[in-house]
Amino acid sequence: MGSFTAFVPSICTLALIVIVLMLSADYLSSFASHSSFDMLQFRIVGSLSDLQNRAALLTESSDGVIVNRFTNSTAASDGVTVNHFTNSTASSDSVTVNHFTNSTTVKKKSSPSEIDKRKELNQGLARSRASIRKAALTQKFPSIIKNEDIVPQRAIYRNPGAFYQSYAEMERKFKVYVYKEGEPPMAHDGPCKEMYSIEGRFINELEHGTTRFRTSDPERAHIYFLPFSVTSMVEYLYRPLTYDLVPLKQYVADYVKVVSTRHPFWNRTSGADHFMLACHDWGPLVSEANPQLYRRSIRGLCNANSSEGFNPQKDVSIPEIHLFGGYLPTKLQNPPPLTEPRPHLAFFAGGVHGPIRPILLDNWKGRDSDMKVYEYLPEGVDYYSFMLQSKYCLCPSGYEVASPRVVESIYAECIPVILSKKFVLPLSDVLRWESFSVQVKVSDIPRLKEVLTSISEEKYMKLKKNLRAVRKHFMLNKPAERFDAFHMILHSIWLRRLNMRLS
Ligand SMILES: *[C@@H]1O[C@H](CO)[C@@H](O)[C@H](O)[C@H]1NC(C)=O
Ligand SMILES: *[C@@H]1O[C@H](CO)[C@@H](O)[C@H](O)[C@H]1NC(C)=O
Ligand SMILES: *[C@@H]1O[C@H](CO)[C@@H](O)[C@H](O)[C@H]1NC(C)=O
Ligand SMILES: *[C@@H]1O[C@H](CO)[C@@H](O)[C@H](O)[C@H]1NC(C)=O
Ligand SMILES: *[C@@H]1O[C@H](CO)[C@@H](O)[C@H](O)[C@H]1NC(C)=O
Repeated sequence: MGSFTAFVPSICTLALIVIVLMLSADYLSSFASHSSFDMLQFRIVGSLSDLQNRAALLTESSDGVIVNRFTNSTAASDGVTVNHFTNSTASSDSVTVNHFTNSTTVKKKSSPSEIDKRKELNQGLARSRASIRKAALTQKFPSIIKNEDIVPQRAIYRNPGAFYQSYAEMERKFKVYVYKEGEPPMAHDGPCKEMYSIEGRFINELEHGTTRFRTSDPERAHIYFLPFSVTSMVEYLYRPLTYDLVPLKQYVADYVKVVSTRHPFWNRTSGADHFMLACHDWGPLVSEANPQLYRRSIRGLCNANSSEGFNPQKDVSIPEIHLFGGYLPTKLQNPPPLTEPRPHLAFFAGGVHGPIRPILLDNWKGRDSDMKVYEYLPEGVDYYSFMLQSKYCLCPSGYEVASPRVVESIYAECIPVILSKKFVLPLSDVLRWESFSVQVKVSDIPRLKEVLTSISEEKYMKLKKNLRAVRKHFMLNKPAERFDAFHMILHSIWLRRLNMRLS
């Protein structure tokens, strides 16, 4: 019996699993309602209520892609039961999988040197907190920042001095321990393209990219990473037509059980110095698998709905970044000069999902030539060109609070107009969204044009300038670059570990 990895290459590296879509799933229907795109769209978006449709799509995506390949898993050798999946349909290669590698159990009492390491680590954290507090007052930037060619646009940060100091402290000392348990594709890998690319990109960057933040000595770690991908679980563990998240939750529960049994770290803090990261809509639901993970651990989530347990005190709202085929669309790479006039006031095109979009479309679809609001884009019109020619890009929540539109608007330097409820905006622990976006209450949607036209040209230019400055914080680079989305997410996790707020 071969090893599992021999059958399933890394999602990130071989891109076997992910079908290249030219269009965002979310506004896919705008383009090609009867085309084969619908059939290819097996990427899962939306709410549980929409499961039925999506499950149907899952089964249709059988162009060589095996969506569900688990037969009976073996129990881990230490008696911890891992996942049991029976009745899989497509597992023609009948692989028996042991999800968790057989790493040695660390159960011995802390030796003096381990105690010293923890003491040193805690003193280091205390020094970082002190220097950040000081910078928050003096607003002086640390030297490593000044040496770089960075001219920070102060307005975009809640507290620029504190942010740059905490960023510098992170670069100097932050160490993450990545658990080795689990095997690809569910752990140590994830999608690096399409809607949920941030999952795979983050995991891969931490495991194979910049090594500065990773430590192989768990006693020297500030934080412990559970490197699983909810999107991969949806692809491999979700059984079509079952509408059932139990297998995904079982995987996560088992993962936590295994690492908390084999290592002393989880129990030490009941998971509080551990983190997971999920961009998939079901991330929050799947994290319910373990109550400590849900309530105490840091959860980096795209679907940051504060009515669904997202807790900004400990959780981190991460950006949903849609990378077609793994790349930033070329059209969005170089937005036009700031002063170039944009002919359209506002733009939206997308499916009528969730509670807010019907209100937007009812009020504005086909109503006003300044308000380019479409359900289906007219033929021959390009989505990104529209964004680049609009002053404001409307970003209503769909099935879930997050939408890749928000980041696409930032790339296009089209001021995002946030139309949502209970959405904790990405990186809003650090960034002042009001300096580069507009938030409009859902009840004000009927007055949307009035709201937007009342923004002065001077204010608009300020927003746009700030938007350009904030752009780098939402870029995904390979390899990661300072201050990009990878580092910003890591920085927010660092802040949670310091247990500090910058505002
Ligand atoms: C899976 O388990 C069932 C019952 O536990 C057993 O009958 C079957 O042979 C197993 N299949 C494989 C492939 O191990
Ligand atoms: C597995 O499939 C058999 C026959 O198709 C069915 O009787 C049984 O209920 C299924 N078990 C589960 C757990 O779905
Ligand atoms: C797993 O660990 C057990 C107990 O330490 C050992 O007996 C066994 O040989 C190990 N298996 C592998 C594949 O390393
Ligand atoms: C952590 O706590 C759990 C539940 O109390 C226990 O089963 C496990 O053995 C503990 N882990 C370690 C390493 O002691
Ligand atoms: C946020 O969560 C609440 C509570 O579950 C839900 O009613 C609401 O629809 C969610 N928002 C979105 C946009 O999904």
